[in-house]
Amino acid sequence: MAPRPTVWLDMDPGIDDSWAIAVALSRCSVQGISTVAGNVALEHTFQNTHDVLQVLNHSEIPVFPGADGPLLEPLITAKAFHGEQGLGDYVADASHIPAILADTPRVWSRWAQHSTGVSDTHLIATGPLTNLAIGFLAFPELRSAWKSITAMCGALPGTEMDKAKEFNVYVDPHAADVVFRYGARVQMLGINVAHKALVPIRDLSLLPQYGKTGRMLAKMLNFYTIEARGEGGNPDAFPIDDVVAVAAVSYPEIFQWRELPLTVVREGPLRGTVVISPIDVQRPAVKVALDIEVPEFLAWLWESMETYRA
Ligand code: BDR
Ligand code: CA
Repeated sequence: MAPRPTVWLDMDPGIDDSWAIAVALSRCSVQGISTVAGNVALEHTFQNTHDVLQVLNHSEIPVFPGADGPLLEPLITAKAFHGEQGLGDYVADASHIPAILADTPRVWSRWAQHSTGVSDTHLIATGPLTNLAIGFLAFPELRSAWKSITAMCGALPGTEMDKAKEFNVYVDPHAADVVFRYGARVQMLGINVAHKALVPIRDLSLLPQYGKTGRMLAKMLNFYTIEARGEGGNPDAFPIDDVVAVAAVSYPEIFQWRELPLTVVREGPLRGTVVISPIDVQRPAVKVALDIEVPEFLAWLWESMETYRA
């Protein structure tokens, strides 16, 4: 297991994103969180991130707003899975959001200017990749600024799930393509692997042990599982894709990877499909997840939750 990696989370909370925040705080040093429109509008993903951090007693972590919609397409949300405001049935205590003027790509650029060479920070992206794409286009020095970039998006080309099934790449296919084109040390954790790491429904009964964090997640997951249950092919279990992305950085030994140059179908009926890019020699290889050891993942997940035991 990686010794407590330093990470930055770029995300659209979102219910599995929220669980990913909790697990990342347990396993990693979280430098900051940037938010993007995706599961719900930016105003909610930004607010939700603050609300979740407050419950986790980590309001000191800086949160930044990013893009309020995809590069070129209108925003599509996932309210069926995440609820009208993004956290299902969870209603936060009244919280205060400090006014923040800087937006995410500019914040990253200032950070990159102050670091020398490749940083020790791993970026974990669990929403549409719009912030990252804007960052790469506006501030080219960001393209190789992170030690790794793990994106929960897409599916391994050639698998039965690879046709326009994954939300983050479908919502902003142009952004995903920019990331595959320009990003250094990119890892793609697709739903072909994330949907193997299913949580049995009966495990929800473990949550009350974990104090207010457990109660918050239980409220969210009661809503989420109405839609997500069965998504990975097992009616008695549900996927938590964004948490698996944290595992890919914290516990990479339980994954198998393969390097492939990738591109994304951006228009038409196959929009959002990730394909191998054989003719574009300029494309860097992306490390694509092939498989995961599921029992080890589930043990890691619940051990991560021990941080919150009441
Ligand atoms: C992705 O879509 C979103 O709804 C989830 O938060 C996750 O990031 C899975 O396709
Ligand atoms: Ca997400």
